Amino acid sequence: MSSAQKMVTADQRHLYINLQPHFLTISEDLHSTYAFDAEGRLLSAFRQGVNYQRGLSGAILKKQVLPNRSKLCQRLSDAEAHNLIALVLAHVAQLRDLGLADQSKEVASWLERILAWNMGRYNDERIRFQSIYQPVSILPPDQYLSIVLQAAEGCSWNRCSFCTFYLDRRFRIKTPDEFQRHVHQVKAFLGTGISMRRSIFLGDANALIIPQARLRELIQIVHQEFTLNSHDALQGIYAFLDIFGAEQKSIDDYRELKDALVRRVYIGLETGDDAVFQLLNKPGSPAACVEAVQMIKAAGIHVGVILLAGAGGTRLANQHVIHSLATLEAMQLGVGDIVYLSPLVVPEQGTYASALAAAGSANLDTAALNAQIAHLKTEVRRVVGPGTRVTLYQIGEFMY
Ligand SMILES: C[S@@+](CC[C@H](N)C(=O)[O-])C[C@H]1O[C@@H](n2cnc3c(N)ncnc32)[C@H](O)[C@@H]1O
Ligand code: SF4
Repeated sequence: MSSAQKMVTADQRHLYINLQPHFLTISEDLHSTYAFDAEGRLLSAFRQGVNYQRGLSGAILKKQVLPNRSKLCQRLSDAEAHNLIALVLAHVAQLRDLGLADQSKEVASWLERILAWNMGRYNDERIRFQSIYQPVSILPPDQYLSIVLQAAEGCSWNRCSFCTFYLDRRFRIKTPDEFQRHVHQVKAFLGTGISMRRSIFLGDANALIIPQARLRELIQIVHQEFTLNSHDALQGIYAFLDIFGAEQKSIDDYRELKDALVRRVYIGLETGDDAVFQLLNKPGSPAACVEAVQMIKAAGIHVGVILLAGAGGTRLANQHVIHSLATLEAMQLGVGDIVYLSPLVVPEQGTYASALAAAGSANLDTAALNAQIAHLKTEVRRVVGPGTRVTLYQIGEFMY
């Protein structure tokens, strides 16, 4: 049940409580707001004009609009994260003592849960997360509130010149027993906080590359452990897949996955231009990506296609844009599909920078990158079917 309550303290502070079925927010006047999940874990904080989002891993992302209107997004250091949580807990304890807990039994019970999370417990939780998960390196933006289950770890290719997400681990597929243990650990970790999660995301980089027989077993475990597809429950299963992996499956495999409630597959096209594609060292080709997407869609599964804005730099910019638009058009996307535009962040590691220089090209400057993103946004919307969402994918804003 949802309810919004307001109280004015003896010293004239205006407090607002928003009780939702799966989370609670507490605000004081307009200067601070905190959100907590059903376990009482901090989800987000707004203090002194700055937003903070806390992930399950314990990482905290600070988001701020600077006086020159540019946006700043950075991860807090451990010490900064510690200080922020200590400030929030002290503030909530103060509000409780000013009479917030007297509002209702329900509010009192939420406050008790929130304040049962002392600093020691927050620290222990970070360590516990690391014992359950390999780092969750990236998710599609519409999956930030999913329950990540690492059916596999790492990327089976791991050699794209621009991508450093999984360089820290070897690709491996979990056995059913191992996966079952992992699922149990994840459920215990989330506790009642599971109620605000909306989907299952199978990790890591290309979980659907798992051979069909094993994938079937792992997905069966998901269905045994979670209620999917009912009202107010988890909507289905989502996962990344690379082009090479996508080609390994048949339409019947995809139909089986559709019946198992796999709803959307996210695939990195990055570019529709063969020369840029080569420079990125992606597996497969743009043409193979079109075929794979058409097969996945024919089986009734939606796709999320990721395009890398800025790929190929100055010299290849025109052909990157023109061929990417033609490739997306050929995919015949529609309702339920998404096109993500991911602005290229040139990594220090990896071979992208040297490959770009060898191709006689150079990185776009910020103005040129922003112009390409704006152009792509308009033109992609024009070439994809109505109902296909076109939106940004900012890897620097990711946190789980
Ligand atoms: C897990 S991969 C996508 C799925 C699959 N592994 C594939 O490559 O098709 C995540 C996406 O993050 C994006 N990405 C990776 N490294 C990036 C970088 N340095 N800058 C911007 N986007 C990046 C790419 O668009 C990539 O498709
Ligand atoms: S872009 Fe995808 S396939 Fe390439 S290394 Fe990264 S995760 Fe692997």
